Amino acid sequence: MSVHIIATTPIAGQKPGTSGLRKKTPVFMGRHYLENFVQSIFDVVGAKGKTFVLGGDGRYFNDRAAQVILRMAAANGAARVIVGQGAILSTPAASHLIRLNKTDGGIIMSASHNPGGPNEDFGVKFNMPNGGPAPEAVTEAMYARTTEITQYHIVESQDVDLSKVGRTSLAGMTVDVVDPVADYAALMESLFDFNAIRAMFKSGFRMRFDAMCAVTGPYATEILENRLGAAKGTVVHGTPLPDFGGMHPDPNPIWAKELMDEMFGADAPDFGAASDGDGDRNMIVGRNAYVSPSDSLAVLAANATLAPGYKAGLKGVARSMPTSAAADRVAAALKIGSYETPTGWKFFGNLLDAGKATICGEESFGTGSDHVREKDGLWAVLMWLNILAVRKESVAEILTSHWSSFGRNFYSRHDFEAIPTEKADAMMAALRAALPSMPGHQVEGMMIADADDFEYTDPVDGSVSRKQGVRILFEDGSRIVLRLSGTGTEGATLRLYLERYEEDPAKFGLDPQIALGPVIRAAHGLARIEEHTGRSAPDVVT
Ligand code: G1P
Ligand code: ZN
Repeated sequence: MSVHIIATTPIAGQKPGTSGLRKKTPVFMGRHYLENFVQSIFDVVGAKGKTFVLGGDGRYFNDRAAQVILRMAAANGAARVIVGQGAILSTPAASHLIRLNKTDGGIIMSASHNPGGPNEDFGVKFNMPNGGPAPEAVTEAMYARTTEITQYHIVESQDVDLSKVGRTSLAGMTVDVVDPVADYAALMESLFDFNAIRAMFKSGFRMRFDAMCAVTGPYATEILENRLGAAKGTVVHGTPLPDFGGMHPDPNPIWAKELMDEMFGADAPDFGAASDGDGDRNMIVGRNAYVSPSDSLAVLAANATLAPGYKAGLKGVARSMPTSAAADRVAAALKIGSYETPTGWKFFGNLLDAGKATICGEESFGTGSDHVREKDGLWAVLMWLNILAVRKESVAEILTSHWSSFGRNFYSRHDFEAIPTEKADAMMAALRAALPSMPGHQVEGMMIADADDFEYTDPVDGSVSRKQGVRILFEDGSRIVLRLSGTGTEGATLRLYLERYEEDPAKFGLDPQIALGPVIRAAHGLARIEEHTGRSAPDVVT
């Protein structure tokens, strides 16, 4: 087999965002596109003699992209690639394999919760030897490389057979095809009380897990049905499909509506959960009880010691800035550290590596711990199951008792999608300019205490991240946060995060939109959303 050095030229806009490079599939399939980015990865991290993990969420082009990446890894002198059977690996499972095998990192093919298919989204990202997403300095270097690339290396060969577990080789590089589920399932078994959960299922506990035709199907079937004895059929949409069966694999009440309807309908199961395209997000629902991700993080932190893997207690809890402060209240009660980081899982990596935090979470349906360096959907589901099995209470009871101990942070996120980029930028610029004059003013009967643009200094490496989102803080503890999405592929998405704290959780009933009424009105007034964008109502409310 010969190594080819192919002449190429830079392609504009190969800039990886917070979760790698994400583009429409036809763009990724374009001439030299995937190759240029993969070569830029290898040029930055070095491939010679190294071992990498490779896998993806099974979306359209996953299988063919894997073959290209394998050929390029071989041509760049990699010693070994560990690849999930069928080129499948969930993001948390990939993170685990990188750590377990002490590899030099991994390449994950995914566009997370974005739809997949010939005309939908594809993505590639690089994870570091600690199992976590590449930090900004590394992704910036990769981007810089894409702007100057002149050649890439690829071997000429037939496809590697990825359908069978076992060892083969490609132009001198070892290819280990592994069962994508086995090591991950063993890790889960080491963290959670599988006996207690098994006994709960045995006693008639019913659950629904919606894999949304994405990567968690095989993981959930093996763990929930085969190992924990949940009834057959507990996992629905359990076969990963290249186009996710046309589903939008984003576990929130809008996209996982079928699950929501079942959980709020007659004869609802005891517990429901869903995960996203690549398996790192989760949504938790009880019978007639939706658990917001911010509350889920707080409940998991408060009850973590019920799970064997966490019985020694937590070192700290970290949340992204827009996530509600519910977890901070738990951390204060437990007298452990709490951290507020910018949006994006990568900011948790240093805290986890340094042993400052054990559990982390984002309002965007992301929760996880120091067992891997990615958020982990099934981990959150199993943690909830462990808590339910030990406490022997319903999800609704657990939520109610949590709020009565800690008070309730009413919370919601409103998304305004596909806004013309210049309009969204102009709105944010005007808002930023107005921040200094805001404190001391009353809006909707609430006094503004502080207004700033979130800036984060990493407590481990001292790096500073600026302009991470506008925060308007009120004297009564209410809060408005506005930022533009960094992951959208069409125009700009404005995210408006709303929060209000009430000691008496019963005061406003269950629906947070009611409690948040004045905060929502204040946000629209202060940011002049309609004036700038023409939008008066959000497209998605979570
Ligand atoms: C979104 C979420 C963020 C998450 C990211 C990757 O980013 O809001 O919490 O880390 O996806 O899953 P955004 O589009 O807001 O930049
Ligand atoms: Zn994801």
